[in-house]
Amino acid sequence: MCGIIGYCGNSAAFKFLYEGLKRLEYRGYDSVGICIDGKVVKMKGHVDQLNKCDSKIKNSGNFGIGHTRWATHGAPSYINAHPHTSGYINIVHNGIIENYKEIKEVLTKKGYSFISQTDTEAAAHLINYYYKDDLKEAVLKACKELKGSYAIVAMCEKKNQLVAVRNESPLIVGRGKEGVHLASDISAIADKCDELFVLDNGEFALINGAEISFFDIFDKPIIKQAETVDKDYESVSKEGYDTFMEKEINEGAKSVKNTLEGYRDKYLPPKFLEGIKSIYFCACGTAYHACCYGKKLIERYVKIPCFSLIASEFKEPYTTDYSQSLFVFISQSGETADTLAAHTLAKKYGAKTLAVTNVSKSSLEDVADIVIKTRAGREYAVASTKAYLAQLGFCLYFTQVLCGLNNIPCDLTAEENLNKLYKAIDAAGKMSQTQSLAQIMLNNEHAYFLGRGMDFITASEASLKLKEITYIHSEAYPAGELKHGTLALIEKDTKVIAFLTQSELKEKMIGNISEVKARGAFVTLFTQFDNVDCGCDKILLPDLPDVYMPLIAIVPCQQLAFLVSVAKGLDCDKPRNLAKSVTVQ
Ligand code: G6P
Repeated sequence: MCGIIGYCGNSAAFKFLYEGLKRLEYRGYDSVGICIDGKVVKMKGHVDQLNKCDSKIKNSGNFGIGHTRWATHGAPSYINAHPHTSGYINIVHNGIIENYKEIKEVLTKKGYSFISQTDTEAAAHLINYYYKDDLKEAVLKACKELKGSYAIVAMCEKKNQLVAVRNESPLIVGRGKEGVHLASDISAIADKCDELFVLDNGEFALINGAEISFFDIFDKPIIKQAETVDKDYESVSKEGYDTFMEKEINEGAKSVKNTLEGYRDKYLPPKFLEGIKSIYFCACGTAYHACCYGKKLIERYVKIPCFSLIASEFKEPYTTDYSQSLFVFISQSGETADTLAAHTLAKKYGAKTLAVTNVSKSSLEDVADIVIKTRAGREYAVASTKAYLAQLGFCLYFTQVLCGLNNIPCDLTAEENLNKLYKAIDAAGKMSQTQSLAQIMLNNEHAYFLGRGMDFITASEASLKLKEITYIHSEAYPAGELKHGTLALIEKDTKVIAFLTQSELKEKMIGNISEVKARGAFVTLFTQFDNVDCGCDKILLPDLPDVYMPLIAIVPCQQLAFLVSVAKGLDCDKPRNLAKSVTVQ
């Protein structure tokens, strides 16, 4: 987690650090800090806080480092914010130094005092301990002792130098007209650079004025090839909306359309899928819910064994021989640490791997056998909306491809059906009843989302959206499972949101709604069946074949979460404690 930025050049550093950090806020935003020419400014809160810096900092100094934090060790606070200082050394860090307690113990005995609760401070003091007038040497020596994942950029007040190192956490170095830039992510600096160098694990970069040189852990110089720079990155613009989330919800249909239209040609080589006997979808968060949809589709149409795994739960020893399996990793960012770790494990046990990512040049893209893009466009709000829809779109395409290979009739991606789907997604985002439901939801501390089959996926994603941006406690349950425990929590006026979009589960779902109503629950039902009457509030969805309904039913639920969040005066784009890209396990 956390975003790192660095600059060394011929202009005032502040502007570059600030702009870069704004673009890296998706990696965390609980505190922010910069160091320019040895002067440190840091504070609790979002990157915008830096605007409070006085003009001396803003206009002077042409080399510096910056950081936007997502707390892992120590609460979000001024003291725990980066950069961390030790003597003339300042560092910013992304990742986790696993042996920081041991280092702290040793250095404390040598007279160093620790003031923060962070793991990073141990690295700062260790670099200072080894510093004898050569910053690179000090960082190299320190890194030989550090265990864990880290991207670090260090600077020394006495020198016009930056030293960067990467181990498991991404770090990019770029050269542009106005100097050298460093960042955790290409998109933070791409528009300013003509050349980009992606550091590999164990590689160091020394930035000395305008010169960049690269070294390995043994201090041996290495030559790195520059990557081509895609300057066509999308600008950070809300395009007239007050929040990214509202904008992104409204881009749902476009996101699915762009994604599916990109797949028209033989995008997924048939040879790659030959000999596959089972499929494992694997991801975290919202992307995991997309995996569940993929699994349901493949079970329904292709009828080969298919599983959906939560990446953080896929660990040794729960592994087997995967040499005839395909692992499909779905990740908006392609940087989620648990998803990357699961990929490593799947490869270790012989699986073929397919990555489905939305952000270009991600770490997952680097390691997977094959990459398929979703074309949602950059998603900025922490809560995923349009990227989720694009991931569901990918699942439709993937199922269609597998059906084609197995001669199974399937019209999931037939143009006529898809055109209806895009229209239905748009219409689902404009339903006025969502407003009234938001008013009701505002007065609730708890909510239960129920569904069966594919509707349980929608229930899970809808519940996640609500809790992450409104802080209302909510749970999703497979409706049939309720009576095995959770029904005990249903009492008079408990808010229940039910989904009924799957014809073959109609009768059973109606029965489950009766059960919660009988205990006094206040139920709102999302369905496309106008003849279903459960004696509760009903929100009628656009009517499409059942199999498409997860792409439609989720949209008003995204709106619902958004409306409640705004009505509560919360920042729906940056919910507390969360980050868009979760780069620690
Ligand atoms: C975070 C984000 C979620 C996302 C999840 C997985 O929790 O807030 O929106 O679904 O990470 O991220 P990924 O980039 O792998 O899809």
